[in-house]
Amino acid sequence: MHPTSQKIFPTFDLGDVILREKQESDVPDFFRYYSDPKVSKFILCEIPQNIEEATRELRYWRGVFYQNDGIYFAIADKQTNQMIGSIGLTSHNTYQGRIEISYDLASEYWRRGISTRALTVVVNYAFDVLRVNRIEASASCANIASKNLLLKCGFTLEGTLRQHRYHRGSYVDVYFFSILRSDRANISASNSCKSSDFSPTPIA
Ligand SMILES: CC(C)(COP(=O)(O)OP(=O)(O)OC[C@H]1O[C@@H](n2cnc3c(N)ncnc32)[C@H](O)[C@@H]1OP(=O)(O)O)[C@@H](O)C(=O)NCCC(=O)NCCS
Repeated sequence: MHPTSQKIFPTFDLGDVILREKQESDVPDFFRYYSDPKVSKFILCEIPQNIEEATRELRYWRGVFYQNDGIYFAIADKQTNQMIGSIGLTSHNTYQGRIEISYDLASEYWRRGISTRALTVVVNYAFDVLRVNRIEASASCANIASKNLLLKCGFTLEGTLRQHRYHRGSYVDVYFFSILRSDRANISASNSCKSSDFSPTPIA
């Protein structure tokens, strides 16, 4: 399905940032932050080496929505509209009610709670709009930030997949996480990632 077809890509206003559709004009910003070694260090897949590869990658993630495989947002600075990160859902298994979540953010924006807010919106989107039962996430066991983010947002660490990924010359252990529809009610009052803590505004 082509991006100009009837499917309307949603946008969410999270205050200082928005979640919106990726655009071809985002490629230079995407390539810049994504190839920053601080960001790419724990991303367990190929990192684009040039603008052409970054363009292909961005187009692939943009197409996920139109192929009904999930949805992949750009995280953009609300003041400048500059793309500063990505977050999204892929590998939607409609029969099993399952989907995978992943994310990344430009290092200048770390530790401001942006990923906490974005993750909460996208998790709610998966449960409420895509009607999944289970959201899965994985992260290198060395990726403390990602592990803590997922735990903060109510995900359960299910276990370690030993040497699950071949990454830059060695096999790395990977943590596997999930959150279930039924977990939502059990997220403790002290968890600061509850959706009631803020009100994302859908745009259009
Ligand atoms: C993981 C990542 C997305 C976190 O984004 P962020 O916007 O900085 O996260 P938040 O500010 O919302 O932080 C949420 C929680 O994550 C944890 N966290 C974030 N960065 C951390 C760090 N450097 N060390 C330890 N814990 C960290 C904390 O528990 C934090 O909660 P707190 O601030 O109340 O202590 C970001 O570090 C990143 O893009 N890393 C590189 C790409 C990547 O690893 N992607 C995931 C691949 S699995």
